[in-house]
Amino acid sequence: MPEAHPRRIFLASRNAKKIAEMERILGATMPGLKVLGLDDVAAYEEPVEDQPDFAGNALVKARAGLAVTGLPSLADDSGLCVDALNGMPGVLSARWSGPPKDDARNNALLLAQLEDVPDERRGAEFRCAVALVVPGPDGTPVERVVEGAMRGRVIRELRGTGGFGYDVLFVPDDQDGDLTSAEMTAEAKDAISHRGRSLRAIAPVVAEILG
Ligand code: IMP
Repeated sequence: MPEAHPRRIFLASRNAKKIAEMERILGATMPGLKVLGLDDVAAYEEPVEDQPDFAGNALVKARAGLAVTGLPSLADDSGLCVDALNGMPGVLSARWSGPPKDDARNNALLLAQLEDVPDERRGAEFRCAVALVVPGPDGTPVERVVEGAMRGRVIRELRGTGGFGYDVLFVPDDQDGDLTSAEMTAEAKDAISHRGRSLRAIAPVVAEILG
């Protein structure tokens, strides 16, 4: 049995489910490791997510986390990349139809943009990058990024009440049925999702770097 881990790590997120999931995943290799979220630290001005890719935005957020908290910091960034739109909305997913952020309006816009796209060309994938930034021995931060993806297709009508964002329009490939990710249980989605995959992939990296 590994010894209880005395350390703490910061995840730049307010999503209690994401924080609990990370603590569970990291806890399997680092028992006792505590994951703090944005609501557990003094409020700070969060950086603008202005990078051209998910890895860049995740790094910006994790660097800010380390700068403010002094703790090893994790952050994620994710979105939907549609083949027929050359990978868009990508990093613009949350605000695809303009401010203020509105999932229903984003979904309506995506449906309209893909109206004339035939079924065989409606492939897409959710992607997620997770960045880890820790204080380095000589003062230079050590940085790592991992990525995960969930491949599938965009359907023509909204289906399901679970999930969030584009889940009601997205049918993942990696399943026996034909459910949207909004019709799957949270556990079934986590097992194949871009976020689940990247959170699980960062766990051994955290363990190695925190020793
Ligand atoms: P983030 O919070 O900056 O990573 O932005 C993520 C945006 O991408 C969300 O607002 C959604 O529009 C979309 N997105 C990312 N992951 C998912 C997912 O698992 N389901 C549905 N939409 C997602």
